[in-house]
Amino acid sequence: MDYVTLGRTGLNVSVISLGAGGSSRLGIQTERSGQHAAEIVQNAIERGINLIDTAEAYGTESVVGAGLKHVKREDVIISTKYSLRENKGLKKAEDFEKSVDQSLANLNTDYLDIYHLHGVDHTDYDYAVQQLVPEMIKMKEKGKIRFLGITEAFASDSTHKTLERAVQDNCWDVMMVGFNLLNQSAREKIFKAAVAKNIGVLDMFAVRRALSRPEVLIELLNELFEKGLLDARKVDRNNPLGFLVHPDGAHSIVDAAYRFCRYEPGVHSVLMGTGNLQHLANNIESVSRGPLPEQDIQRLKDIFAGIDSITGN
Ligand SMILES: NC(=O)c1ccc[n+]([C@@H]2O[C@H](COP(=O)([O-])OP(=O)(O)OC[C@H]3O[C@@H](n4cnc5c(N)ncnc54)[C@H](OP(=O)(O)O)[C@@H]3O)[C@@H](O)[C@H]2O)c1
Repeated sequence: MDYVTLGRTGLNVSVISLGAGGSSRLGIQTERSGQHAAEIVQNAIERGINLIDTAEAYGTESVVGAGLKHVKREDVIISTKYSLRENKGLKKAEDFEKSVDQSLANLNTDYLDIYHLHGVDHTDYDYAVQQLVPEMIKMKEKGKIRFLGITEAFASDSTHKTLERAVQDNCWDVMMVGFNLLNQSAREKIFKAAVAKNIGVLDMFAVRRALSRPEVLIELLNELFEKGLLDARKVDRNNPLGFLVHPDGAHSIVDAAYRFCRYEPGVHSVLMGTGNLQHLANNIESVSRGPLPEQDIQRLKDIFAGIDSITGN
């Protein structure tokens, strides 16, 4: 496993990390047990992953806590998140500490390494900065959190409206950004500014549904062809990413997808979501294989240039 410095946090983070959300939620979403989820966490740690990401909204904080039971606290980076809204309204900023305390209890720890505001809609961004950042700073002063993070609601904000603003501000130590080979718009809009500010970047949506299920990919790309956003001369409609898999290239589309994100300048760690031990092992192997061949990367940049309307979900 390779490790890099997560921007201004100075944390030494594995280049691939484990997400306890997404469509798998460590397998809980697909009806695997909490014990199985905790095993996924343990196995990830044994294989060298040192950042585990969860959120109050995922319902997986407790199983992450269980999976980390025998790990020395200082050997793992715990990342979790605060939901701004409940029952369609904004939660009260004065109750912020209660959420932090609940996450601490769920995760069975007395500090959180990275505490993010979760999926912030651009219409809530002013509220987040004016009302919640001061609460986050108080939590930092109390030693309950170490670094301030923000994640975008990429599924509904595929053009990065929120993070384009956030990256101009100085309060964020870490950002969780939607970026994959289908939507590379964060490269210009977010990563350049994040590098200049030394903000830690965690990549999300590397694979999701479109890059792990061929039928979803074809359906999604057909929509782009119909809208005239993809050039039919550049892509085989029946096997759009097939050119990536060859003896000197990727082993599979999933392999290509994680490697593409892992070697993107400005990305520190790529989050993977899985409830499957074999997938966990495969994905760690993927990121240790090195970058994709340069001509394949260039072709992906050329095919998907300007695409920012899809997320790969
Ligand atoms: N706004 C936010 O804050 C936000 C939003 C989304 C995600 N996140 C974070 O980012 C993390 C990563 O996102 P994600 O969970 O969507 O992850 P992802 O890694 O992009 O995609 C995960 C999907 O790919 C499948 N998969 C993984 N490895 C595979 C393999 N080798 N072969 C075939 N299929 C494979 C998984 O199914 P299996 O279970 O079968 O492996 C799952 O369906 C989340 O868990 C969460 O922590 C944050």
